[in-house]
Amino acid sequence: MGLKKNLLLYFFLILTIYSCKLLSEKKSVEKTESDTVEMGVYADNTMVVTAHPEASKIGIDLLKSGGNAIDAMVGVHFALTVCYPRAGNIGGGGFMVYRNNEGESHTLDFRETAPEQASRDMYLDENKQVISRLSLDGHLAVGIPGSVDGMWEAHQKFGKLSWERVVQPAIELAEKGYRLTIGEKEKMEKYAEDIIQFNTKENLFTQLQAPNAGSTFIQQDLANTLKIIQQKGRDGFYTGRIAQLFIEEMERGNGIITLEDLKNYESKWREPLQGIYKEKYNIISMPPPSSGGICLLQMLEMLEDFPLENWGFHSKESVHIINEVERLAYADRAEHLGDPDFYNVPIEALLNASYLENRLTLINEQERTPSSVIKAGVVSKTSSGSKNRKEESEETTHYSIVDSEGNAVSVTTTLNSNYGSKVVVGNAGFFLNNEMDDFSAKPGVPNQFGLIGKEANAIQAGKRMLSSMTPTIVEKNNELYMVLGTPGGSTIITSVLQNIINVVEYDMKMQESVNSCRFHHQWKPDTLFMEPSCFDTDIVNELKKSGHTLIEKEKIGRVDAILIHENGRLEGAADPRGEDKAMGY
Ligand code: DON
Repeated sequence: MGLKKNLLLYFFLILTIYSCKLLSEKKSVEKTESDTVEMGVYADNTMVVTAHPEASKIGIDLLKSGGNAIDAMVGVHFALTVCYPRAGNIGGGGFMVYRNNEGESHTLDFRETAPEQASRDMYLDENKQVISRLSLDGHLAVGIPGSVDGMWEAHQKFGKLSWERVVQPAIELAEKGYRLTIGEKEKMEKYAEDIIQFNTKENLFTQLQAPNAGSTFIQQDLANTLKIIQQKGRDGFYTGRIAQLFIEEMERGNGIITLEDLKNYESKWREPLQGIYKEKYNIISMPPPSSGGICLLQMLEMLEDFPLENWGFHSKESVHIINEVERLAYADRAEHLGDPDFYNVPIEALLNASYLENRLTLINEQERTPSSVIKAGVVSKTSSGSKNRKEESEETTHYSIVDSEGNAVSVTTTLNSNYGSKVVVGNAGFFLNNEMDDFSAKPGVPNQFGLIGKEANAIQAGKRMLSSMTPTIVEKNNELYMVLGTPGGSTIITSVLQNIINVVEYDMKMQESVNSCRFHHQWKPDTLFMEPSCFDTDIVNELKKSGHTLIEKEKIGRVDAILIHENGRLEGAADPRGEDKAMGY
């Protein structure tokens, strides 16, 4: 009896000690998560805001060791591939907006392209119906990645430190590992079944149970891949051993990307899209194949003459009008936007002030105008801004950087869905995108974000799929003012718009703006999406009375932004919706 009692006591003692240990592990893991909530991070010289503390730290360290914003960008980009594998990538693509301290701006398009064997109806069955998930899961969903070429190209042109130096921290992060947070473990487990289904070789992600939160996650295959990229630059990815592993992966999984496709990939410098808001703000954003810049500038131009400030933040009047203007812009998006190298995108016509004034006559200040009566505008295709005419779950990531000289970089990059196509290149340790779903597989049939498209965004070999990614830089009186962007699929453009408006119209600080709840309309479906409890009940009722259908969406975007205050101080705002981190000095 006594022995049994002692054993029982002993058992409870062990159990208590073990539970305390678990609890303290959990606490120390939670401490690594973002603690930026009420106040932004303030600094005098530099700022880096990314989706992950490890990436932000690498960016800051590169800046401290004499690197500029572009060096920090490359370091952050490769680091996110390691510590934020569901969106950070070398197997995806993105867009960069860069403004140097002399006010010159540049935009780099490193969007994926469709493989040579891709064709308009490749995701349709014999009855011309879209085959469910074929453009989303597995090898056939993959576009030719642009990230490595993009980083290389930008670094060649504007980098200060050596390529070897800027790639090195990501290699160390992959080789020495980083501590997994609870959120990261949960994400890996949430997608494990899909990852197992679409992989041809076992890898670190093909396990139903991910390593424990708090444990060190080491990725040796990825470290080896990054070492080759470090030694050989862009060619290290698009030719040679990595390309070979890529193609073997394609062959095992019935994908269509070839060695030739990889070798021929090219990122492209494009003319930045710029537009003035209320005389003093110049918005610099991404032209097609992103729809971001055009839609953002259209919406700002249409909103310019409405008294948003007097109406007040999230008043019925301002929510209504912003919503209606979003509706108009997304109708144009569906009809007119695509890759400018393949489709004559009427950029100038779509941004023409009288065209936009005319568009405003379709909506009214009080009542919702149903999307069924809003069509895309009729524009002349001869006024195209396109030069080389040849005949848009879920994660993405955005980072914003300002260096001590005042150069600024705004990059949004993605694998499209969480972990992209779910395919990891065997023995190479990196995920491949499923960006092909951003094409319009069939006119009028919505993609994963509910976006529809037509001819402008039809699939064609070599063509870039239309994107919503909207990396943006704002100048005030010709000086650097704001650097911002976000993930969120179709909601990206409206989140960027609302953050610009929060700051310039409602005088918010960056963090206050980033924390504020967001809403979204994309023409079709005819729904006003909003984050939970976004508006006061009376505003919700008024919006409903005006004809709006409101639906709650748990989170809209993850804005990582920097604001330069009048005294020159930088405010970094990391979105508390994620584990994002702003660091500056
Ligand atoms: O390029 C685009 O618009 C999409 N592939 C972005 C995907 C995205 O933002 C998913 N994240 N939440």
